Amino acid sequence: MKENTDSCQDSAVSELNEEPLISEIEIQHRTVELARRIASDINSDEIVIISVLKGAFMFTADLIRRLAKYMHYIQLDFIRAKSYGDSTKSSGNLIIETDTTIDLAGKCVLIVDDIIDTGNTLSKLTVHLRDKGAGEIKTCVLLDKPSRREVVFKPDYVGFDIPNHFVVGYGLDFAEKYRSLPYITCVQESENECK
Ligand code: IMP
Ligand code: MG
Repeated sequence: MKENTDSCQDSAVSELNEEPLISEIEIQHRTVELARRIASDINSDEIVIISVLKGAFMFTADLIRRLAKYMHYIQLDFIRAKSYGDSTKSSGNLIIETDTTIDLAGKCVLIVDDIIDTGNTLSKLTVHLRDKGAGEIKTCVLLDKPSRREVVFKPDYVGFDIPNHFVVGYGLDFAEKYRSLPYITCVQESENECK
């Protein structure tokens, strides 16, 4: 396969820390553990997984396949919510760009997101889905930056706690770049030293 060696790619890659913060294999092991815990906690063979686009697409795809080992009736839906523009800072507001379509009335729902940062997205989405009639609502994130929290919110399931770095890969982006990386790494900014 032809390697991408053009200058655009080179300058993009120089933004990234060379070492993964969390490797592909660490993510896979943790996803297996999370699926086992979720399946043993949820007292039902039925669940609706709501994946928060775009960032959670890769984590959801891996998690749902692990969950399928334990749960027989998994429904999948997507919600697209945006609080970030093309920067590493939150705009503060949450805009629901694409809503769920599955009937959630009384159902057990698991919201899956890539990362919890200020907590605004998950706390607002939980209220939104409750308003749509969901029964029990659980939340699962791959990454948690607890030091950045602005609202009190504790996800039910967390893959990894991380320090206050802007991270990319495994679905997470920086201005729509780097989602396809199979691991998590840091974007290098002067105030975002990745150690
Ligand atoms: P919160 O509403 O501040 O908790 O932010 C949640 C959303 O912000 C996540 O679903 C991500 O889309 C985005 N986000 C927060 N931190 C990062 C990061 O370090 N890298 C990429 N996206 C992030
Ligand atoms: Mg997101």
